[in-house]
Amino acid sequence: MDIYLDNAATTFPKPLCVPEKIYDYIVNNGGTSGRGAYEKAMLADGLVYQTRKSLAKLFNHKDPKTVVFTSCVTESLNLALQGILKPGDHVVTSALEHNAVWRCLKTLERDIGIIITVVPATAQGETSITDVASSIKPETRLIVFNHASNVLGTIQPIGAIGELAREKGILFLVDAAQSAGVLPIDVQTQCIDLLAFTGHKSLLGPMGTGGLVVNCDVDIHPLISGGTGGDSAYEYQPDYYPNHLEAGTMNVSGIIGLGAALEFLETEGLENIRRKEDALMDYALNALKKIPGIELYGPQDSSKTVGVIPFNLKGHAPEEIAYFLDQNCHVMIRSGLHCAPSAHRLIGTIKRGTCRIGIGYFNENGHIDALVNGLHAFIKEKNSCI
Ligand code: ALA
Repeated sequence: MDIYLDNAATTFPKPLCVPEKIYDYIVNNGGTSGRGAYEKAMLADGLVYQTRKSLAKLFNHKDPKTVVFTSCVTESLNLALQGILKPGDHVVTSALEHNAVWRCLKTLERDIGIIITVVPATAQGETSITDVASSIKPETRLIVFNHASNVLGTIQPIGAIGELAREKGILFLVDAAQSAGVLPIDVQTQCIDLLAFTGHKSLLGPMGTGGLVVNCDVDIHPLISGGTGGDSAYEYQPDYYPNHLEAGTMNVSGIIGLGAALEFLETEGLENIRRKEDALMDYALNALKKIPGIELYGPQDSSKTVGVIPFNLKGHAPEEIAYFLDQNCHVMIRSGLHCAPSAHRLIGTIKRGTCRIGIGYFNENGHIDALVNGLHAFIKEKNSCI
């Protein structure tokens, strides 16, 4: 049996309703959205709108029209950062960001002269609101923070940061790649102006889906221009949403799959999902701590993290461990830097990286047992080679 423990990269399996709805659309409908006056196209349009509505409900956002679809959270973050920031703007971010934020900010720093301040984090991935406050300058335009680190799992105080940003009149962009679908997110009470999310992680939808919730009036320059299916004689991108930020034929099948996943999440309940993943985290942490030579990173406390556990085994490369687990035990985990080098600098693993377990809703205790047995087998084999 294959055991999948790489859910922080992408969740697997998906609820069956996801491929079923995608199959049904491709086989029985196939119409494009927003571009046809025939029944099937209008039906496809309705299903896309329904997914916007479900996302707005999940994130307590007032207006489904300002839930903009993208192909992934990286695109959503680029859309927000490139579409808003101007030369001389100051941005506050954290030492935990994924390259989706960091490379985009560095490119804007190099190309147009934005100024970046990085809020420090502890080796447990904790940041302080006092440090965020002291990073703010008169020219600060935007604060961008991840909700949960993809390396350490640590949950950031986004409600407190949002309040501070609102009080100071600064835009607040949240990267919810690792949290949407498992932690509650409320763009209104948490004062989130822009929420970037992906569909294929804890939202349990397919790859190729993501979006940006625009909960503010800021002018965002579109990342791409093109057909929107309406006002075609107008020579620029329309200024109304969602068309302002969406161009080209949409990923209708993916969005319909995401819609099905959102229905599944609503039925299961976010609290139940979080409770199950927390219990699996506790079970895994307890078992992993007993492994000889293990180095665990991050808070090691399920109440402070999403379902991510980074670790190393003394004297071994993470890739060597991940390869052994896969080839000998059919256990899949991730190894390396996880596209977030600054988080690895905090824990002293920038050169070698770590192994990482990503726990998902469909994991069971038996999967953790298989991982732990695999790690024991790895240690035994390496010791017998000495
Ligand atoms: N950024 C994703 C991860 O952390 C892919 O694995």
